[in-house]
Amino acid sequence: MNADHVRGWVREARRIVLLSGAGMSAESGVPTFRDAQAGMWAKFRPEELATEQAFRARPAMVWDWYALRREMIAQVEPNAGHRAVAAFQQRHPGRLAVVTQNVDGLHQRAGSAGVLALHGNIAQEKWLDAPRACCAQHPPVDGHPPRCAVCGNLCRPAVVWFGEMLPQAELEAAEAAAAACDLMLVVGTSGVVYPAAGLARATRGRVVVVNPESTELDDAADAVLPGTAAGLLPRLLED
Ligand code: APR
Repeated sequence: MNADHVRGWVREARRIVLLSGAGMSAESGVPTFRDAQAGMWAKFRPEELATEQAFRARPAMVWDWYALRREMIAQVEPNAGHRAVAAFQQRHPGRLAVVTQNVDGLHQRAGSAGVLALHGNIAQEKWLDAPRACCAQHPPVDGHPPRCAVCGNLCRPAVVWFGEMLPQAELEAAEAAAAACDLMLVVGTSGVVYPAAGLARATRGRVVVVNPESTELDDAADAVLPGTAAGLLPRLLED
């Protein structure tokens, strides 16, 4: 099965889901998590950074790591893959739903509407503990991390950490889109993190994996296209 064949499937499909992961943004310059050479976790273990327990134990280190990522993301641009997805949605309203594990907001910045961001948004913050009246009344004081001047409640990035629930409305909408689609394009994800990866196993539509490396979802795919997001999506999604 080659890219031209899959382009035929795109043309036939009435409802398409694009399920993206970190590789979607690699060509924008955002490092992936698990790639051996460039992945952020070559330097840091996920359990050291991306859990509530880690944040409570070392809030400054974890806050600063997210702050660095946030600054880096603010400096990059959506790539040709993000743009091809957004352009397709504009040409075909209601036909393609974007479900992403990425917290970088690049699909949204490319112009995609209704993006279901399963793992939150790194540009946003929320309170670590349930906010009390004081947290709402006073702006947080600057710091690493910022905190409530009265009770000391900490700000944390509004991303989903290991062991946490996904935002319910987004997950339900993603499950509904996966159940209803004829075609799912699984782009730039290693397919090891659930429940996101489970969407590709739950759909009854065709599944196409776009990735330069093999993934845990290849066995669930009707076609595996070895290639990159920016290289292949413009071809797959052209009219
Ligand atoms: N185009 C497409 N895929 C690419 C590209 C590219 N240019 N470059 C790398 N990839 C692929 C890699 O081969 C790999 O399969 O992107 C994938 C990245 O995998 P991960 O780093 O594991 O990222 P992801 O699957 O998004 O991780 C899932 O885990 O760390 C948590 O919450 C975090 O959302 C993240 C989740």
